[in-house]
Amino acid sequence: MSEHLTVVDHPLVQHKLTLMRDKGTSTSEFRRLLHEITQLLAYEITRELPVTHTTIDTPMETMDSPILAGKKLALVSILRAGNGMLDGVLELVPSARVGFVGLYRDEETLQPVQYYFKAPKELGDRMVIAVDPMLATGNSSAAAIDLLKEAGATNIRFLCLLAAPEGVARMKEAHPDVPIVTASLDRELNDKGYIMPGLGDAGDRMFGTK
Ligand code: URA
Repeated sequence: MSEHLTVVDHPLVQHKLTLMRDKGTSTSEFRRLLHEITQLLAYEITRELPVTHTTIDTPMETMDSPILAGKKLALVSILRAGNGMLDGVLELVPSARVGFVGLYRDEETLQPVQYYFKAPKELGDRMVIAVDPMLATGNSSAAAIDLLKEAGATNIRFLCLLAAPEGVARMKEAHPDVPIVTASLDRELNDKGYIMPGLGDAGDRMFGTK
């Protein structure tokens, strides 16, 4: 991907995103919409998966046909909201390996601190897609990418539902080699770090917590 930021401006994505932003949308509907949008975004972010050719017999004749090549994709959920995007990608790429990164914010230093990290083996040989619906300040996203790079990943992409300009700038500064795919670049962050106009707390909305 040559662009650092790709906004998927597709009518289906934008329609579903409008429904997700609406505060009247129920938890179950929010989850279903996130699942569906993730699949549409995943189509875009997997565009450069490596392919090779294999010989098959159709009912009509023998042909050389494209097939995915190389090590399986690694999908990495940034906990906890990233989990809402896992199944959508896994339905499209069922053989993907899955990892998890857990980070919390230290209230004194305001810096992200790791509490969980589990990644698939041979990360350096795989395309790695990190998923988190909200790219807000970018601090935890950048820290998650740091951890993936420390674990050997060299070909990383970042998939989110909404991005704030501040988060995109932070990622560009820390990880210019990591392309971002999103459904929307929103206006700004508010003083509490929420994306505006946004959709509120993505984790709370998908899991029905407060
Ligand atoms: N995380 C969220 O869930 N929502 C925001 O607006 C920002 C970060």
